[in-house]
Amino acid sequence: MIFFKLMLLGSLAGAVSSRDPRSVCLKSDTSQTHTACSALLHAFPRQVFFPGTENYTVESTAFWDQAAWLQPGCIFQPFTAHNLAQGVSELVKRNVTFTARSGGHMPVTGHASLDNGVMVATTHLNEKTLVRTPNPYGADYLRAGPAFRWEEVYSFLEQYGFTTAGGRVSSVGSSLLLGGGLSYFSSVHGWAANNVVNYEVALANGSLINVNAKSAPDLFWALKGGSSNFGIITRYDLRAIPLGKVFGGTVTWASNDTQRYLDAQTAFILPGGGAEDDRAAIMPNFGYSPLTGQNNSGTVFVFNGSDPNPEALRNLTSIPITSGSFSVQNFSSVVATTSGYAARDRRWSFYVTAVKSAPPTMNMLYHHMRMQADIILSGVNATVGAAVQPITVNHLKAAQKNGGDAIDLDPAQGPFVIALYYANWYDSTLDPLIKKWELATIAAVEKDAKARGLYYPWKFLNDAGQAQDPIATYGYGKSLPRLRAVSKRYDPKGIFQKNVPGFKLGSELHSGC
Ligand SMILES: Cc1cc2nc3c(=O)[nH]c(=O)nc-3n(C[C@H](O)[C@H](O)[C@H](O)COP(=O)(O)OP(=O)(O)OC[C@H]3O[C@@H](n4cnc5c(N)ncnc54)[C@H](O)[C@@H]3O)c2cc1C
Ligand SMILES: *[C@@H]1O[C@H](CO)[C@@H](O)[C@H](O)[C@H]1NC(C)=O
Ligand SMILES: *[C@@H]1O[C@H](CO)[C@@H](O)[C@H](O)[C@H]1NC(C)=O
Ligand SMILES: *[C@@H]1O[C@H](CO)[C@@H](O)[C@H](O)[C@H]1NC(C)=O
Ligand SMILES: *[C@@H]1O[C@H](CO)[C@@H](O)[C@H](O)[C@H]1NC(C)=O
Ligand SMILES: *[C@@H]1O[C@H](CO)[C@@H](O)[C@H](O)[C@H]1NC(C)=O
Ligand SMILES: *[C@@H]1O[C@H](CO)[C@@H](O)[C@H](O)[C@H]1NC(C)=O
Ligand SMILES: *[C@@H]1O[C@H](CO)[C@@H](O)[C@H](O)[C@H]1NC(C)=O
Ligand SMILES: *[C@@H]1O[C@H](CO)[C@@H](O)[C@H](O)[C@H]1NC(C)=O
Ligand SMILES: *[C@@H]1O[C@H](CO)[C@@H](O)[C@H](O)[C@H]1NC(C)=O
Repeated sequence: MIFFKLMLLGSLAGAVSSRDPRSVCLKSDTSQTHTACSALLHAFPRQVFFPGTENYTVESTAFWDQAAWLQPGCIFQPFTAHNLAQGVSELVKRNVTFTARSGGHMPVTGHASLDNGVMVATTHLNEKTLVRTPNPYGADYLRAGPAFRWEEVYSFLEQYGFTTAGGRVSSVGSSLLLGGGLSYFSSVHGWAANNVVNYEVALANGSLINVNAKSAPDLFWALKGGSSNFGIITRYDLRAIPLGKVFGGTVTWASNDTQRYLDAQTAFILPGGGAEDDRAAIMPNFGYSPLTGQNNSGTVFVFNGSDPNPEALRNLTSIPITSGSFSVQNFSSVVATTSGYAARDRRWSFYVTAVKSAPPTMNMLYHHMRMQADIILSGVNATVGAAVQPITVNHLKAAQKNGGDAIDLDPAQGPFVIALYYANWYDSTLDPLIKKWELATIAAVEKDAKARGLYYPWKFLNDAGQAQDPIATYGYGKSLPRLRAVSKRYDPKGIFQKNVPGFKLGSELHSGC
């Protein structure tokens, strides 16, 4: 609740890519959609829902961001992975546009839902089983259907003394893994996706296959960052990691203590700062209300261990708090303090960029957010801000050590921060103005960062906005040709490129609206 309040008074801007991706809603025409929905209904009579029914309404609005609530021609809610795979082959036969929704937290309109076409809701794929060693992956792991929210995973694993590297906010869903995934434990375990030991995937040809380092190393690599470009995931097998108590909590700080916070985070990300302690993680945020002129900032803390006052976090924990608390407790209890993010009462937007960790970084990121908000959004009933997320050298090393991924960043070029600029508002007529602010802020930050030699040329897909092209930045450009080759092999007709919206393997193929 507290953190939600904090984000409400913050906001977000956007990174503009050099190319201009397609900005259209991918949709089929009504008769094509009708034909496909009829075929699905015939094959799966109790798993297809049309407008006007309760299941349709629940599923079509199961999105965090109201701007993502669209009107699919019908919604397919498969009972099993096999049903889902067979359903995909029906959709492919009819050449209809379709997309999948799991946790519904991606705030990009037209990615996890669509107008006309078919939305596949993974709701019933909700298995959770702990599989002990010995097993083929040589590690205890969790078999989990894609319907999960991270809070459920953490509570489930905690009973056995485990956790996994996953999302930091309770209500976010499994597709976090498809964009890599930033976890509170990333400095030790890399991206969340580096801890997937196997994926079960429904391919465009209707086959259901297991994808792991032995069975399909190329696709296994591609799925770690490659988003919705290869198939629909019907199960994730996630390495279980031991965890006891943690120090943590969620707090907010006073408007006039914002500079103290910016200074404390600056020290945290610089050499010798707290980020170098692999046990420590923060999910900080500075927000601003162009209506009231007030700042609102705060953070979530997580420190692995029972130290009640970790040195690594002390510069931040010593700032007087205006709400929230921290203590030594269960990890799931800390994550529960982020539950306000489940609210679905407004429009949201994310845009992202990245900047090297350096003395001017934090002040620069605040300055441009504030300046563009005062110019473009003065007096507007919206909240804007940025979540500035530290990425450590050890995180990038752990990603490589745990098998690598399509994101493929070089530890020698770290540390840096992901700057996630966000906005939230109510009135849809403000959409163009908000987008203007997002693009202007990202452009100003990137120009300034480049001038100072601090620009980091990569965009985090999980935090990217509709006009951005995150996959083109993977491996500093080297991953894209390899990802296209994997796509040709497992989806020779390019169904997941042409018929499924999202961040695609080429900006000309992106869609969103
Ligand atoms: C409040 C909040 C907090 C966040 N915190 C974090 C964080 O701590 N770390 C982090 O890394 N990211 C974070 N994110 C970003 C988040 O990881 C992404 O938005 C992610 O896509 C959400 O997954 P989802 O399942 O909830 O999304 P959805 O909206 O359901 O799906 C996102 C994308 O994946 C596709 N998709 C959905 N299900 C499947 C499937 N089964 N198979 C194939 N494709 C599928 C969709 O079509 C869409 O393109 C956060 C986002 C929000 C809004
Ligand atoms: C949704 O559909 C399922 C399966 O047909 C049914 O059991 C359930 O009652 C429906 N839920 C709602 C809210 O209509
Ligand atoms: C599939 O539909 C697209 C438009 O949505 C069209 O361009 C394409 O030619 C169609 N393909 C086939 C094989 O019918
Ligand atoms: C913390 O987790 C342990 C292990 O699952 C459990 O026994 C205990 O009840 C939890 N404590 C709280 C306060 O939830
Ligand atoms: C937490 O720390 C303990 C002790 O160092 C370690 O064994 C465990 O793997 C860590 N857990 C995570 C999730 O990193
Ligand atoms: C911040 O404002 C409060 C009153 O709202 C005041 O008590 C405090 O001294 C101020 N702090 C700073 C650093 O100016
Ligand atoms: C908001 O924070 C900025 C940066 O530290 C500071 O200059 C400004 O005075 C703060 N505004 C208010 C109203 O506290
Ligand atoms: C705390 O801040 C001081 C002063 O800026 C800095 O020297 C120190 O490295 C910081 N400590 C940590 C653990 O970040
Ligand atoms: C901003 O909009 C919200 C939602 O419509 C409304 O509740 C709130 O009162 C508005 N604030 C102002 C200051 O107008
Ligand atoms: C679908 O493609 C996969 C991967 O290329 C292949 O293993 C499988 O046999 C194909 N299935 C069908 C039914 O052609």
